[in-house]
Amino acid sequence: MGRTDRTRLSDLRRAVSALYRDNRQQGYAAWRSTAYDFVCPSVDTYPYQWFWDSCFHAIVLSRIDVGRAEAEIVSLLANQQPDGFVPHMTYWQRERPVDPNAPYQVAGRSRRISDSMQPPVLAEAVAAVARRGRGAAFLREVLPAVHRFYDWCDRVRDPDRDGLIAALEPHETGMDQTPAFDAYIGVSGSDPVHFEAAWRSIAVEHAQLGHDPAAIFARDRFVVEEVASNVLYAENQRVLAGSLAELDDADGAAELRARAERTEAALLGRCWAPGLADFCSLAGRDESPLPGSTVAGLMPILLRVLPEAIVERLAGRLADPADFGTRYPVPSVSRGHPAYRAAPRGTVLWRGQSWINMNWYLARGLRRHGREQLASSIEDASLALVERSGFREHYNPETGVGYGARGFAWSALVLEMLSERVEPDGSAG
Ligand code: GLC
Repeated sequence: MGRTDRTRLSDLRRAVSALYRDNRQQGYAAWRSTAYDFVCPSVDTYPYQWFWDSCFHAIVLSRIDVGRAEAEIVSLLANQQPDGFVPHMTYWQRERPVDPNAPYQVAGRSRRISDSMQPPVLAEAVAAVARRGRGAAFLREVLPAVHRFYDWCDRVRDPDRDGLIAALEPHETGMDQTPAFDAYIGVSGSDPVHFEAAWRSIAVEHAQLGHDPAAIFARDRFVVEEVASNVLYAENQRVLAGSLAELDDADGAAELRARAERTEAALLGRCWAPGLADFCSLAGRDESPLPGSTVAGLMPILLRVLPEAIVERLAGRLADPADFGTRYPVPSVSRGHPAYRAAPRGTVLWRGQSWINMNWYLARGLRRHGREQLASSIEDASLALVERSGFREHYNPETGVGYGARGFAWSALVLEMLSERVEPDGSAG
């Protein structure tokens, strides 16, 4: 480890600390009779609290201010519902009511929280914050709520009991306009207007069903067992099992491990399409595969147990310049896919640009399977993106130009990448 990485790390820590000062949202929510303290994804574009963003922010904060990292988690859990659900958005500081006909239909039943979920990355965020802070004492405070959330995922989002949870609207996957859903939601082309119309019609129908998951499953309009969300679900069930074991809950740990294994077996058994060298999401009651050639199909590289032949195929795709191996990887869509665009069209997201959170997971996954060099090259490219173009929402995979929100907080995950190299604490394992 050269001195350069240490110098780079201290520069990056300074930049991230400034960003997380600027994006900090703190106050008292009279509507909830509680104080809040979180990092918003972007002051101009996304001023509220988002679920998976917040988990990433807590992980980054655990490197610079573990007290704030704890507060981020506590604020995220403050609006957990009695059944265990944690909303994907909380409009903590919003004063005006939401227009129920707004195109991004996430208001749901309450004007303060959404009825949607996001990829369930909570357990790993909590584990990182505990590991770098108060350990078991923090786990004891928050783990019961975290456990209830994963029980909710299992009970409410996996009614066919195959171990895979379903997203009930496109944005629940966190990869809003991914081309993997185009045919399923009836969109052709990349025009923002088409997505707005398609999303609205799904949202209106779900609103008519009272946002009730059971009724939405029965209607079967948008039900997707999405690959990346389920890889993260498997990973997080494993991490939760480890945290429960730390608190001497052997039964809880065994149950979560068994659930993780079921999720992993379903991903390998039902989603892997050898002919495409891709993992496909499954749509609807009849579980039709949604071929996509998107970054989501590569995410199973994170699975701890993966046949070497599959590792080889996925690593090969990540290295191939005509596929995912661009100069500034990892593009959210393969270069070989007709929907691939290096530059975004308006506010249509996840159709080619590189995102730092995906890079973070993919590099970790590659390292788990001994692909050290490829992992490092993805991390190096991520660092170069942030150092050159700043903390942007997403980046051009060919030129490195940044797009979308400015001061985008989860791009600070590069701090996590570099910290693991310079002063590892085992979290990347
Ligand atoms: C966009 C992203 C989503 C993220 C949100 C807030 O909608 O697609 O994943 O959570 O912005 O940053």
